Parts: sequence; C-alpha cells; structure tokens
Amino acid sequence: MKNTPSAHAGFMARDRAWHPPALHAPYKTSVLRSPNAPLLSLPTSLGEETGPVFGPAMLGELDHDLIHNYAEPGESAVGPRIIVHGRVIDETGRPVPNTLVEVWQANAGGRYRHKKEGYLAPLDPNFGGCGRVLTDENGAYEFRTIQPGPYPWANGGNDWRPAHIHFSIFGSGFAQRLITQMYFEGDPLIAQCPIVGAIPDRAAVDTLVAELDMTRTVPMDACAWRFDIVLRGRRQTMFENRLEGL
Ligand SMILES: [Fe+2]
Repeated sequence: MKNTPSAHAGFMARDRAWHPPALHAPYKTSVLRSPNAPLLSLPTSLGEETGPVFGPAMLGELDHDLIHNYAEPGESAVGPRIIVHGRVIDETGRPVPNTLVEVWQANAGGRYRHKKEGYLAPLDPNFGGCGRVLTDENGAYEFRTIQPGPYPWANGGNDWRPAHIHFSIFGSGFAQRLITQMYFEGDPLIAQCPIVGAIPDRAAVDTLVAELDMTRTVPMDACAWRFDIVLRGRRQTMFENRLEGL
C-alpha cells in the first residue's frame, strides 16, 4: 500500500464547463489577455500541492474590520455597515481551516483607493478598502465592512459593475487558491454585467451571490450577508479498499 503525499495529494481537476472561459468577447479586456492555444492539464507536484502557512500573529488587530482599519481614531467609514461571513470548504465538503481570506472593495460611492482610479465619486478619507481574516478550525470566517457601491467601467459601452467584494483565498496549496468576487442578493446589475455574463451556468452565478442573513444581523448596527466558498478539493487518499474518512 502506498500512502505518501506525493502519490495521492493531488487536487481534483477544475471543471472548465463550470468556470468562465478565459475569452468572453463582451468582456473586452479578456480578448487580448486570454490564451490562443488550448490549455494543457498537467499533474500537480509539490510546488502546487503546498503553499504558505499563515497564523494569527501576522494579522493586525483591525484587519477584519474595514469600517475602522483605515479610519482616523474615533472616525469610521461612510456607508451601510455590514457583516460578511461564511465557510470555506472544499469540493468534498471538508472545512478549510486556518486559511487566509483577503478582501478588497470600492467605497460606498463605488470608488477605489487606487492611483489609476478615474471614477468621479469621492474618496472616503476613512476607508481604505482592504482587509483579511483567517478561517477558524471549521473553515468559518467573518469580517465587517461597508456595503460597496456599484461603479461604471470602461468596457466600450454603458457598463456598470454590480456592488461586489473581491476575494482571494489561499487554501492549503497553490493549486487550491481562488480569486473571485462576491455579489449581493437582489442587485439588478448582476444580470447586466459582462464579467458575470462570462459565467455560462446561472447556477454557478448564484454561488457568487451572498444572501442576506438576518440571523447574524446586529440590531441597530449592521446587516449580515452569508457567502460560502468552495475551493478545489484534494483527491481522497485511498486506504486499502475504501476512501479515507468515509
Ligand atoms: Fe471591483
């Protein structure tokens, strides 16, 4: 019986019918930056199956609180105060613990704090737009922020991004890393967005839409939104004639 990590710790192949194609003409910048040749699938090696390990010591006290982490003392960011929470699991339903979740977003007016940002909405002096948290032992995460505004973007027409929060999740190996965007339930701009439109399956779009979660809302403080995230799963390790853990 072989049971070494290098023999069995590979990750499941990505389902390319579920994920958006690299080339989607209505999303203009995808035309020039997408590959011309068909992709090749290669077996993963240790370089992809492992990744950086993060611990609580690297996080700042307010990293999980975008309402305050860029604000002057006694001040806070402008906008509807919200809590975003959920679980990070893999394709087999296993929690992904102690993994780094990084988020970035526009302010309540739809403007980013970035030197190339050109939208006329004003900057909020008390909002930076970045945060990060670690998942707990059950894969759960939570952060506080303000609800971002929608913004127009140069895509050749009258295109607006729905309100969204960008996510990067490291997972336990580089092959598992996911960079995606979270949208808000009920936003009519979701259906209009050429970037969202690159996703072929409506059910796949729905996995990117956070649901209002009144059970976690803090009265007179913040509404809560639930957003669960699924990372690529590891192939299960065979143990004699059954799958490990089953
Ligand atoms: Fe954005």
